[in-house]
Amino acid sequence: MAASSSPAPSGHLHYYQEHGISPVRYGIETLAAHFDRRDSLYRSLGLPPAAFRGVRVLEVAPGSGQNSLYVAACRPQSFDLVEPNPAGRRDIEAAYAGLDCDHTVPALHPVRFEDFEAEAPFDIVLCENWLGSLPTEVALIRKLASLVAPGGALVLTAVPLAGFFPNVMRKLLALRLVDDSLDFDDKTELLTDVFGPHLATIAKMTRSHRDWVHDCMLNPHYLNVALPLETVVDAIGDQMEALATFPRFTADWRWFKGLTGEERGFNALTLTSYRENAHNLVDYRRTFPPRRAEENAPVVAASHTLHQTAIRWQTAAEAGDTGALPAISEEIGASLSKIGDSLGDFDPGLVDAIEELSAVWSKDTLTASSVREMTSFASLFGRETIYVSFTRPHTPTC
Ligand SMILES: C[S@@+](CC[C@H](N)C(=O)[O-])C[C@H]1O[C@@H](n2cnc3c(N)ncnc32)[C@H](O)[C@@H]1O
Repeated sequence: MAASSSPAPSGHLHYYQEHGISPVRYGIETLAAHFDRRDSLYRSLGLPPAAFRGVRVLEVAPGSGQNSLYVAACRPQSFDLVEPNPAGRRDIEAAYAGLDCDHTVPALHPVRFEDFEAEAPFDIVLCENWLGSLPTEVALIRKLASLVAPGGALVLTAVPLAGFFPNVMRKLLALRLVDDSLDFDDKTELLTDVFGPHLATIAKMTRSHRDWVHDCMLNPHYLNVALPLETVVDAIGDQMEALATFPRFTADWRWFKGLTGEERGFNALTLTSYRENAHNLVDYRRTFPPRRAEENAPVVAASHTLHQTAIRWQTAAEAGDTGALPAISEEIGASLSKIGDSLGDFDPGLVDAIEELSAVWSKDTLTASSVREMTSFASLFGRETIYVSFTRPHTPTC
C-alpha cells in the first residue's frame, strides 16, 4: 500500500522532547506478572527464553525500558538499547536501578537509530511500536533487518488499517475538540476527561489514560504510525522470512518435507492469512472464523481511504485552511458509511457504533460531552497492534 504523506515529518521524537515526556510507561502490578506477559508474547513469536540466553540482542526505541527488563533477565551475552529521548532514558535508568535479579546490564546508546552504527550484527533485534509507513521509516525497517545476523530474528509491530480506524476517528475528534488557545496541560485534561469513559471499557489496559492521550491524541505524528503488514513484507521480504505473529492467525498444514527453499513461502502464507482475518482486526472483543480475502477487501479499502483522508484533514487544519475542511469532512463521513456497510455482513452489532460515530462527526459544532457520552462507539477499539517475528534464513553447512 502507498505510504502516506506526513502531517508531522519530524516524528514522535521532536514532540516528546518538546514536552519532556515519554508517555509509554506500563502500570506493572508485579514484576512477575509483567515478565509472564512478555514471556508469553516472545514464546508466541517463536522466541523462548533460551533464544535470548548468551546471544547478542539489540532493542531500538525501548521507551520506558520496562519491556527490556525481561530480555535482560534472560541473560543475553550483550544487550544494546538505542533510545534518543532523554525522558525515556531516565525511565530506563530508573527501571534498571530497581531490577533486583540476575541480569545482563544493557549498553544504553543516547542516539537516534538513524545515527546508530553497530560494530557487528545481532542475533535478535527488537523494535516495538515505533515505525510506520513513511518512506523514511520504511528505510529504517530495512536498516533493522540489515542488522540481524544470519540465523537471527527480528521482532516488529505492524498497525493494520482495519484495526486502526476507531482510533483514527478518535484522533480526528480530538483535533476538532482541542482549541489552540489551550496549553498542553489543559489539552491533556480535556482529552483525558473526554476519552476516559472510552478507555475505561478496556479491561487490561496497562498504560495510564494520560500517557495514552499524550502518545495518541496529542501526538501530531500519531496518524503516521499506520503500518500494514504488506508494507513490512515488501520492505524486508527479500531478506527475511516470517516466523510467527501475535495474535496468531496462520495455520500451515503442509508436509514439512515439502518446505525447502522458495517453496516455504512463509511470507506469502502469512499475508494470505492476514487478509483472510482482516475482519478480526476491527473489534478487539470479537473473533470470527477466517473468510475469503476478497470478502474482507471492502473494509480494508474503506479503512485505508479513511486514513488517507484523515491525514488530509489534519494537514488542512494545521495549515489553517478551514475552507477545505467541510469537503474533507464529508469524505470522512462517506468512508464511515462504507466501513459501516462492509461491517454489516459479518458484525451487524457494530453498525450502531458506526452510525453513532457518523452522527457525532457530522455535527457542525462538536462538544466534549457528545464524544464523552457516546454509548456504542465508546467501547470499539481495533486490534491495532500486530506483533510479527522474522528470521534471516541460514542453514548450517558442513
Ligand atoms: C511509542 S514509543 C514505543 C516505546 C516502546 N517500544 C514500547 O513499545 O513501549 C516510541 C519510541 O520511539 C523512540 N524514538 C523516536 N524517534 C526515534 C529515533 N529516531 N531513533 C530511536 N528511537 C526513537 C521514542 O523515544 C520512543 O521511546
